[in-house]
Amino acid sequence: MSDVLVRTSGISKEFSSVRVLDDISIEIRKGEILGIIGENGAGKSTFIKILSGIYTPTQGSIEFDGRRVELRDAAAAKRIGVSLIPQEFNLVETLNVYENIFLGEELRTRGGLLDRRGMIAHTRELMKELGAAVDPSASIRTLSVAQKQMVEIAKAIKIESRLLIMDEPTTVLTVHEIDILFALMRRLKGKGVTIVYISHKLKEVRSVCDRVMVLRDGRFICLETTDALEIDEMARRMVGRELNQIFPPKRKAEGEVAFRVEGLAVPGLVAGLSFEIRSGEILGFAGLIGAGRTELAEAIMGIRRVSAGRIFVGGRELRIRKPADAVKAGIAYLSEDRQGAGIITSFAVHKNVTLVSLGDYARPLISRAKELEKTRFYVDRFEIKAPSLDARLENLSGGNQQKVSLAKSLDTDPKVLIVDEPTRGVDVKAKHDIYAFIRELADRGLAVMFISSELEEVMGMCERIVVMREGRAAGQVEGGHITEEEIMYYAMGIKEGV
Ligand SMILES: Nc1ncnc2c1ncn2[C@@H]1O[C@H](COP(=O)(O)OP(=O)(O)OP(=O)(O)O)[C@@H](O)[C@H]1O
Ligand SMILES: [Mg+2]
Repeated sequence: MSDVLVRTSGISKEFSSVRVLDDISIEIRKGEILGIIGENGAGKSTFIKILSGIYTPTQGSIEFDGRRVELRDAAAAKRIGVSLIPQEFNLVETLNVYENIFLGEELRTRGGLLDRRGMIAHTRELMKELGAAVDPSASIRTLSVAQKQMVEIAKAIKIESRLLIMDEPTTVLTVHEIDILFALMRRLKGKGVTIVYISHKLKEVRSVCDRVMVLRDGRFICLETTDALEIDEMARRMVGRELNQIFPPKRKAEGEVAFRVEGLAVPGLVAGLSFEIRSGEILGFAGLIGAGRTELAEAIMGIRRVSAGRIFVGGRELRIRKPADAVKAGIAYLSEDRQGAGIITSFAVHKNVTLVSLGDYARPLISRAKELEKTRFYVDRFEIKAPSLDARLENLSGGNQQKVSLAKSLDTDPKVLIVDEPTRGVDVKAKHDIYAFIRELADRGLAVMFISSELEEVMGMCERIVVMREGRAAGQVEGGHITEEEIMYYAMGIKEGV
């Protein structure tokens, strides 16, 4: 018996004659965890969409367990035992959790009726296995991003698959959830399941994958055992050159207080939080999922109803009832949920960039030329890879969509910038660009509220960090001696004190 589960021969993919995947011939071994890494737009998702029947290759063929297969659609791939956790959520918002998990594969009683009890019980089992606190009967709409991710994972592991493909499953998860997921992956591997794992978190790739394939610009760069590739080397092969210093130099902000929040409260979520940010300062917000950081940002933006609190920009008190009020007062917001409120994937790139700032382009008619000109500026600035400026956003790779989202929030020329998980799903090179750009904005006088679950980046970007826990500021750390441990102590409630 051969130890190869999947063999791809000369797989290429073109979209309107643009080649995004070029001649990929690899073998995926039975029972291994194979990592795929590469910059945004390198072709990772395209490759696994071909393996899972979503795209058909322009050229090349696939063998599965020694037999040549034609994967005409996702159902065909599923039949031979391939399941996929997609990069972008694929859930029906109006249905609840168990309905999504069993969509099209509903359990029935012997009498032919829907077996709700059975489906709920099974869903509860899956959630337990994932260590996730998700109610099987909850509507998808009410779930957090992390919970939605858990539902996608549950959907994929529900069937006994032979090849489980995960496209950046951990971008929205916290350390604890990631640990549970990794344990699950190792268990599945022990049962002989083969796993393909895409991630930009190279540390994770190194800890969980047996071998790693690097793609660059649609081309195969290498496939090696993980032990043979140090993290720096992975990054170097992805980018194709040496990457120096990822974070821009920190600066202590001496400017005036540009943004002040006093006793802001959202019932049950944010308990009277106060802070101020100077012009030129990047204030970090760390904490575990559910600590209230996103809710705080949403309250400031007028997305959530507040029960108390005052907000000042440049010393002037604001009355914010809806997001448009906040935008008008000079507050820009990059939300963490890039698929939800963030952007509209069926719109063109340039329409998304000008989504919030639209008023500036309408004098009185919307100037397409101006929109395109501005979009070109951001496309160059962030090296956004797009088929064209008026391509629909859904045709961009995940990370490139995130860059468009950032461009959108910056196009309003704000005084205060709130970013929530700004580099989620973004490759090392793009991270570097985004960090540099946020630093540059701060240097130009903006006050930046920097929310992130990646400790490394909050520590790398911020001179001062507020650690939130259960809606309150559990602690604050600053200066050159910030350590990961100290932040975690506050975040987990082991240490207290502002
Ligand atoms: N349906 C499509 N139509 C046109 N171009 C597409 C389509 N799907 C993907 N592309 C292009 O193919 C390239 C590779 O995209 P892909 O999604 O595979 O990248 P990726 O490596 O997964 O990136 P990321 O890390 O950002 O998720 C990108 O340049 C993207 O714009
Ligand atoms: Mg992708």
